[in-house]
Amino acid sequence: MSSKMTKLFLLFLVLVSFTCLSFALPSAYSIHGRDKLDKFSSEEEVLQLFQVWQKEHGREYSNPEEKAKRFHIFQRNLRYINEMNAKRKSLTQHRLGLNKFADMSPEEFAETYLKQIEMPSNMESRKVQDDDDCQNLPESVDWREKGAVTEVRDQGECQSHWAFSVTGAIEGINKIVTGDLVTLSAQELVDCDPASHGCAGGFYFNAFGYVIDNGGIDTEENYPYTAKNGSCRVNANKVVSIDNLLVVDGTEEGLLCRVSKQPVSVSIDATGLQFYSGGVYGGDNCSKNSRSATLVCLIVGYGSVGGEEYWIVKNSWGKEWGENGYLLIKRNVSDEWPYGVCAINAAAGYPIKETGLGLVHLTGSDVKKIDTPKHMQGVYGGDNCSKNSRSATLVCLIVGYGSVGGEEYWIVKNSWGKEWGENGYLLIKRNVSDEWPYGVCAINAAAGYPIKEVSSSSPLLSADI
Ligand SMILES: *[C@@H]1O[C@H](CO)[C@@H](O)[C@H](O)[C@H]1NC(C)=O
Ligand SMILES: *[C@@H]1O[C@H](CO)[C@@H](O)[C@H](O)[C@H]1NC(C)=O
Ligand SMILES: *[C@@H]1O[C@H](CO)[C@@H](O)[C@H](O)[C@H]1NC(C)=O
Ligand SMILES: *[C@@H]1O[C@H](CO)[C@@H](O)[C@H](O)[C@H]1NC(C)=O
Ligand SMILES: *[C@@H]1O[C@H](CO)[C@@H](O)[C@H](O)[C@H]1NC(C)=O
Repeated sequence: MSSKMTKLFLLFLVLVSFTCLSFALPSAYSIHGRDKLDKFSSEEEVLQLFQVWQKEHGREYSNPEEKAKRFHIFQRNLRYINEMNAKRKSLTQHRLGLNKFADMSPEEFAETYLKQIEMPSNMESRKVQDDDDCQNLPESVDWREKGAVTEVRDQGECQSHWAFSVTGAIEGINKIVTGDLVTLSAQELVDCDPASHGCAGGFYFNAFGYVIDNGGIDTEENYPYTAKNGSCRVNANKVVSIDNLLVVDGTEEGLLCRVSKQPVSVSIDATGLQFYSGGVYGGDNCSKNSRSATLVCLIVGYGSVGGEEYWIVKNSWGKEWGENGYLLIKRNVSDEWPYGVCAINAAAGYPIKETGLGLVHLTGSDVKKIDTPKHMQGVYGGDNCSKNSRSATLVCLIVGYGSVGGEEYWIVKNSWGKEWGENGYLLIKRNVSDEWPYGVCAINAAAGYPIKEVSSSSPLLSADI
């Protein structure tokens, strides 16, 4: 074989293996995640790459002119992606890839996905300094690991990111307060929130207000997403409610504290994220201005890798974008970014869902709160039980503690069914006088717990380092 033939044959093998890979492996291994796109240098090679990409994304064009135009844009984007990836300074720094947006010019992308967000002026009135416990926050938090985050969605060609941010924040607090993870209806917000503009864009603040005023929001299952403007269904169910909406004071510390308690809605300028395919994004090409936000999304955690601190952000551009649909964006940066990278700190909001009791702090690593009934005549003071440490008759589980009206109690899970006690739980007095040398009913006498070691590596980034 001549060397040209050999080269073409090798290229053929490479493309065949790309094609096979793209069907056999999850999207992280498909072409958009590859760093080595720069080996496609000749126009002919790029054309073949384009065809593989088209196949992978099921993209067809109506006529040869359109295909030629898209190929031209693809070629330009590929060159840009290669240039930017070549400038990366570390393995954790963000990378770009040929994702599903690779045949759109940055201008078209901005037109379709990045309309500037109007923020309401009354937002300031909801700004508060967090009065929750903000001391000794964990090094990292990932609400996905705690089961408080639903699947990444794809908004399609409808600028409903704001609606997915709001459903995500409510899904999170609902899981934390009640224990149930329920996927909620973004379509209801698109159709019904009078202060937003459906598929033409919106902002979290108004949409939380709609859910509060409406007395709740329906589930995705009952009121599914269509990616189109629709008329508001009057018979929508009010499945999950929230009680209030607050806005973080704008500080890095305030945002960190709040994210340690629940997922938080934020807005950023997402110019620069069209081809984002993973790693920690430091804000190349986005605006520092607090009023230039173009995307509403949801912080679901934070962490750090190699000294670089980041937020974990859930987006609604599908799982094929970014790190399986997520963005890692740098946090705690210098004053060069007065509102954080891409102004992520500028307008962060979160829903409040009352538990009836206020916070119930749990021991151990589980931060789940328990939705205890409002009436609190239920604290058992030990009538009729023995004070003796050797008279135990029941083994059960303390899952938390709290106090009400100065009376301190343990929250105890029993195994006598939900019809017994407070939905199956017992509230028993704690921190009592010496009359009870081992606590009420000798509950302190023999308390045991298992240990489970955790590895500290970041599951998100470990594949890259
Ligand atoms: C959707 O509705 C909003 C008004 O709520 C309007 O501004 C927008 O143009 C509509 N979009 C489409 C695609 O019809
Ligand atoms: C920001 O970084 C500094 C220096 O590394 C650290 O001391 C501080 O705790 C960080 N603040 C937050 C809110 O993470
Ligand atoms: C984005 O930023 C990088 C470096 O900061 C620069 O080289 C590149 O030209 C910018 N891209 C655009 C489209 O402005
Ligand atoms: C339980 O204790 C209460 C008050 O201490 C007492 O009045 C009651 O008779 C006791 N019941 C039994 C079954 O011992
Ligand atoms: C017990 O109660 C006292 C007095 O109210 C309080 O100072 C103390 O912190 C409590 N101890 C525990 C372990 O809750």
